[in-house]
Amino acid sequence: MTELYAVIGNPISHSKSPLIHKGFAEVLGQDLDYIAIEGPLGRFAETVDAWRKKGLRGLNITVPFKMDAFAYATRRDSAAEEAGAVNCLTFEGDSAEGANYDGIGLARDIEANLGFAVAGKNVLVLGTGGATRGALGPLLARGPARLTVAFRTPGKEAELRALFPEAKALDFAAYADLRDAYDLVLNATSATLSGEAPPVAPKNFARGALAYDLAYGKGLTPFLRLAREAGVEKCVDGVGMLVEQAAEAFQKWRGVRPETKAMIERITVPLV
Ligand code: ATR
Repeated sequence: MTELYAVIGNPISHSKSPLIHKGFAEVLGQDLDYIAIEGPLGRFAETVDAWRKKGLRGLNITVPFKMDAFAYATRRDSAAEEAGAVNCLTFEGDSAEGANYDGIGLARDIEANLGFAVAGKNVLVLGTGGATRGALGPLLARGPARLTVAFRTPGKEAELRALFPEAKALDFAAYADLRDAYDLVLNATSATLSGEAPPVAPKNFARGALAYDLAYGKGLTPFLRLAREAGVEKCVDGVGMLVEQAAEAFQKWRGVRPETKAMIERITVPLV
């Protein structure tokens, strides 16, 4: 029997998840359907309950429902607890198992696809929101020499610090206080949405640095343009992270991990 999976968000029409999951299923000969659900705001639980009654087996969750999914889950993996957000639910009887594959997807893209080993490197993460919170655990686990989080508005960094009390490599700085050059600079702010670049300076990119924007499908974002203008050659967006987190969900649901390279190539938007 064809099993049903979905992604829920609002808005959702831009989502690449149906294309990715159906593409994985086709290559692997898996009998499944994957749809996009535009969830009404404030009615996450009722909407998901109704789809479960229709046989929904698993669900990916995107903006703005990741915290609703966290609350909905009857149990959660450690990455979800750390991120305070769930991006994948798996249904079995009455249980709804919550996971968060965003951070692991990011780390896999950086290391396996882009060939950048985080261990011993200086890493700069821009922003103190949900995207940063999800990325910190998997990045710290790879042993950077230093991981600095840059903030615009002071406040949320204390919350992030409290999540990783043992992490000696982790520090925090206002943009104006960033003195050093970093090997990897990750844009985890929402600045792209308002057509802006976070105020990182050219001197903050080390020679040979990798500039990574978690946004995807938008071509050269303001942050990547800034990095290029600072002389950075290795500029990438978050398309690889998107495909890697999808592969993790697919593996959780279907027991087999898809190859990601061809799919990343298929949905990459050139950085121009
Ligand atoms: P998400 O869940 O996508 O991470 P979020 O929780 O709203 O979104 O967090 C967005 C982050 O981007 C915040 O750290 C925000 O900074 P503020 O706390 O000062 O709002 C940051 N951000 C958004 N626009 C920015 C900009 N133009 N320059 C620098 N940081 C920006």
